[in-house]
Amino acid sequence: MTLSPQFIDAVQDKPQALRTELVQGLLAAEPCVAAKYLYDTLGSRLFEAITELPEYYPTRCEAGIFAQHAPAMAALMPPAATLVDLGAGNCRKAAQLFDVIRPARYVAVDISVAFLRPALSSLQAAYPAIPMLGLGLDFSADLSLPAAAGDGARVLFYPGSSIGNFSPEQALAFLQQAHVASQGGGLLIGVDLHKDTAILEPAYDDALGVTAAFNRNVLLRLNLLTGSNFALADWQHVAFFNSQASRIEMHLQARAAVQVRWPGGERQFAQGQRIHTENSYKWQQADFAALLQRAGFSSTRAWTDTQGWFAVYWAQA
Ligand code: AVI
Repeated sequence: MTLSPQFIDAVQDKPQALRTELVQGLLAAEPCVAAKYLYDTLGSRLFEAITELPEYYPTRCEAGIFAQHAPAMAALMPPAATLVDLGAGNCRKAAQLFDVIRPARYVAVDISVAFLRPALSSLQAAYPAIPMLGLGLDFSADLSLPAAAGDGARVLFYPGSSIGNFSPEQALAFLQQAHVASQGGGLLIGVDLHKDTAILEPAYDDALGVTAAFNRNVLLRLNLLTGSNFALADWQHVAFFNSQASRIEMHLQARAAVQVRWPGGERQFAQGQRIHTENSYKWQQADFAALLQRAGFSSTRAWTDTQGWFAVYWAQA
């Protein structure tokens, strides 16, 4: 029997709340925009391009780890579990594991259910007997999954080191929710590790300027959502490793003094003043294992690439 994927959209668009959040960030003593605003349709395409860049090592490192160790990972997972793919996008990473993990059900979760539709439809054609659900959800705020996401053990899959975009406190809260949502199963998660600044910084400031475009695109998003009048030419991409906080920081820096206006407000930015747009934390391998244990997982196992730049962890609920 050939099944059809089901879709549930649990994302509630509240344009006024988004606008308020963005304006508060622009007026803050240290101006900022939440990193989630980097990912509109164009931003998501630019991020896909980033993953192809020679400087951006995480995607290749992680793919190499899965290519070599997926059978060992699958051997630790509960049989016939539901595979829950967090931030599924084009579903490609999870699809590559299907033949090894053999999930009983597949739940693709993404902030944009529209993005999931074509990917899930072609995946369903390739695996006609696996029930599939596309779920639109902002799981960074709340990871409670609906009953339609399966009532048995779940394997939560969170690749790409997106956990690095959370602060350590936020990461702990997220992992605690993941522990509950796994219903006795576990979590398979990709984590970027601490390494030499000479490797880290070019990965976030590539020679082609794709990461700069990805970062500056948030100004277009701000203009659309708040009615502001940011001019792209006034703002420069800046990325550096903050070694004290163990994170890459991305900012937009004013090339000259500039006045930015939006309906009901304005702000003067001095030359060199920055808007903070993203953090990407780099973990020590043992510290992340300890975080998983603190979140409630009973045992963990990690695999790394040969250079020790990236780790994939299996955390047993
Ligand atoms: C999605 N996330 C894991 C990426 C990262 O490496 O932190 C986002 C990114 N920002 C700039 N380049 C990539």
